[in-house]
Amino acid sequence: MDTIVRKVDINSIDRNVMEEASEILKKGGMVAFPTETVYGLGADALDEEASAKIYRAKGRPSDNPLIVHIADMNQIDRLVKKIPDKAKKLMERFWPGPITVILEKSDLVPKGTTGGLDTVAIRMPSHPIALELIRTSGIPIAAPSANVSGRPSPTQSSHVEEDLGGKVDMIIDGGPVGIGIESTIVDCTSETPVILRPGYVTKEMLEETIGDVDTDRALTEPMSEGVVPKAPGMKYKHYAPKADLTMYRGDVQSVILKINEMAKTDTDAGRKVGIIASDETLDGYRQGTVISIGTRTDEDTIAHNLYRVLREFDSLGVDVIYGETFEDNRLGQAIMNRLLKAAGYHIENV
Ligand code: TXA
Ligand code: MG
Repeated sequence: MDTIVRKVDINSIDRNVMEEASEILKKGGMVAFPTETVYGLGADALDEEASAKIYRAKGRPSDNPLIVHIADMNQIDRLVKKIPDKAKKLMERFWPGPITVILEKSDLVPKGTTGGLDTVAIRMPSHPIALELIRTSGIPIAAPSANVSGRPSPTQSSHVEEDLGGKVDMIIDGGPVGIGIESTIVDCTSETPVILRPGYVTKEMLEETIGDVDTDRALTEPMSEGVVPKAPGMKYKHYAPKADLTMYRGDVQSVILKINEMAKTDTDAGRKVGIIASDETLDGYRQGTVISIGTRTDEDTIAHNLYRVLREFDSLGVDVIYGETFEDNRLGQAIMNRLLKAAGYHIENV
C-alpha cells in the first residue's frame, strides 16, 4: 500500500490532516503518530480487525497486548470495570503524561486488543498531536510503539518510515519526540500497584502519590528461570540493534580502558566497531565509530537519544557495539532496562 506522510506543526496543528487521519481510523485503518514518549502505530481499539492489522504490520506476537490511548477522562468509564482509588490518584497526578495504567477491562474492549487478557492498558498522552487525533476521531486508539517488533522504538518520523513505510495508511510527522523512552507501566489491579515497565515517571514519583509500589520481579531478575514478566511484551528480545551489544559497568576510567582494549582487538581483526559513549567520555576512545548518547549531567538527554543512537549503528553497519552504562541517576532504571534488553543482558563488570 502507499503510505501517506503528512508533516504537522506541533504548535499549529493542521485540522485537515487530523480529519484525514480520523477518516482512516474510522474505516479501520492504521495511522502512526507522535506521542511525548515514542511514535505510536494507531488503530481503533474497539475494532478487533483494526487491532489485528497492527499485529501484522509490526510482526508482533499476538499475546502481546496493546495500550489504549484516550484524550479525556470521560472516555475511560466504558473501557474498564472499575477505577481503584490509587489508579485514580495516579491519573489525576500524571495524566496527560508518560504513564500507562493497567485495569480490569470492560466487555467492550475486544480481547484482540488486549492479547487475550482480561485487563487493559490505558494511557492519556500529553503530546498535542496525539490528543488532537484522539479527540477529532472520537476513537480510543490502540497504539504500540511504531517499530517493527524487536527493533528500537521510533523517536522520529523517519524511523517509522524505515520500519513501516508501505505497511500503514498514514504517518503523521510531528518532528522528534521529547522523552524518547516508553511510558511507565503500572498494574493497578492488585492492592499494591506494580511497576511492569520503568519509564520517565519513576518509582519515587509514584510512591509520593500513592504510597508503596512494587516492582515486577522480572525487571530486576531478567535472566532467572521461571520468572515470567507480567507485561507480556517484556519477555521478548527488544530494542535490539543488528550488531551484538555489550555493556561495561564500573568506574568510568576503567570502562574506557576496557572498551579501548576490546575495540583494538576487533579493529585489528577487521571488524567494524561502534562505541556508545557520553559527552564526558567521547574523547577517551581511540578506535571505532564513537557516538555520544548524551551528557551524564542531564539524563533526559540520554533517554532522548537512546533509540536514535541504536538505529544509527544499524545504518552504519557496525559488526559489534560496546557501551558504557548509565545507572546512577533518576532515570537510570528506565535507561538501563532498555540498554540491557538491547544488549540481550550482556553486561560485564570491570
Ligand atoms: O509510551 C508508550 O507507552 C508507547 C506510546 C506509543 O504510547 N507505547 C508503547 O506500546 O510502548 P508497546 O506496545 O510498545 O508496549 C506496551 C507494553 C508491552 O510490554 C505490553 O506487554 C504491555 O505494555 N501491556 C499492554 N497491555 C497490558 C496488560 N493488559 N497487562 C500487562 N501488560 C500490558
Ligand atoms: Mg514497543
